[in-house]
This record gives sequence, structure tokens and C-alpha cells, in this order.
Amino acid sequence: MPQIRLDKLLADMGVASRRELREIIRAGRVQVDGVTETRPERKLEVDTALVSLDGKALRYRRFHYYMMDKPVGVLTATEDKTQQTVLDLLPPELRRLGLFPVGRLDKDTSGLLLLTDDGDFVHRVISPKSCVKKRYYAEVEGEADEEDAAAFSRGIVLKDGTQCLPAELEPLGGGRCVVTVMEGKYHQVRRMLASRGKPVLVLRRLSIGGLSLGEELGPGGFRELGENDLCTLFNA
Ligand code: URA
Repeated sequence: MPQIRLDKLLADMGVASRRELREIIRAGRVQVDGVTETRPERKLEVDTALVSLDGKALRYRRFHYYMMDKPVGVLTATEDKTQQTVLDLLPPELRRLGLFPVGRLDKDTSGLLLLTDDGDFVHRVISPKSCVKKRYYAEVEGEADEEDAAAFSRGIVLKDGTQCLPAELEPLGGGRCVVTVMEGKYHQVRRMLASRGKPVLVLRRLSIGGLSLGEELGPGGFRELGENDLCTLFNA
């Protein structure tokens, strides 16, 4: 069974920095299996040890998964010298987890963004081979129609000659449509619609696989994903 130092385990949970944790542990605020432990170097079985801080039980997770309703105007990046990033929207204890975005949404795109510290998960979500569908709501100049839908289903060729995989376009009327793609090329949906002479005015990601955003989080809102959410995501 994997063993890990007590201070590292608590740092991985985002409780505090490693240095702060050494003080917290030495101060007698941490219990392991109900007994106060003052040695930061104490080795634990990560799967079985019951750890609490100030009497409150903590839960160890090897990896972390969050969804966010990314607002327009925020960069999909972990840091930037001048502009606000999606990581800036998280509280300090979550920023300490080392999360990064799963793929990217343009600065002007809003909607469902996943954040994790699990590199394999990123690959599973964004690789076209995984066939995880990404659905977008778009408002365009002009009217996206059935001819556009037919062109999308054949596979759009972008203005620079890039061939896209077959995709779906559902016209909603009033310059609105829903686009579903299985890959994530740079500015893909905007460029696909532009290639049909329908420049995008508004773009919002609605879902990834079976996981939908809804409106309940609100711009900049986020929540942790549990096992059920991850199953929903991949079992669409
Ligand atoms: N396609 C785009 O053009 N932009 C995004 O942000 C996501 C998909």
C-alpha cells in the first residue's frame, strides 16, 4: 500500500503549505486514527489512515477534479502577469492543489471548464480517440441553417486547409445554434462557423461528454466533481 509523510499528505489535500503544516502538526492539532501525532515525518498508509485536523476528519484524494463556469474575459491559464486567469478565481486552498485546466476555452468563450491535477484524465477528455463530445451554444452573424449542418456532418475544412472531423450543428433559429465536436483545435468552433460565413458573436460550452454545466454555478462558480460526475462524463 502506498505510504506518504503526514505533512505531505496534508499538503496534497491543500490544507496549508508544507512549512505551515509542520508547525500545525508540532502544535498537536492533527490526529491520526484518533491519536494526536506531532511528527510531520510520520509515514501513513494513504488508503486507510484516518486523519483529522482540530477534530475535523479530512478526506485524502490522490487526484482532484473540479468544474467551473468560466466567465467571459478570463484566461484559461494557470498564471499570467497582467490578466486574470481561471486559477485566480479559486480560493487559496484550491490554488495550492496544483490544478490546471483541461483543454482551453478562449478568453471570449464562457462555460464548462474542467480543472484537475490528473494528467491522464486530461488526455482522456481531450483526445479525439476518446470520442468525448463537447457541446457549445453559439450565436452567429446571419443564420446557421441545414446547409451548415450538412457541411458540419461531412467535416469542415477550415480557411487554412485544416480538415476537421465530422461534427454536429443544430440550428435553433434567430442566429443561434448548438455545435458538437469531438476534438479541440485552436479556436475550432469559431473557425468552423467562420468558414461557413457565420462569424461567432457568443460562444458558451454547455457540456463535456455527459456532464452538463447548467446555470446554477453562475459565472466564476465552481464545484468539486465526485465519482458519479466522472462516470456521467465518460458514459455519455
Ligand atoms: N472553440 C472555439 O472556437 N473557442 C473555444 O473557446 C472553444 C471551442
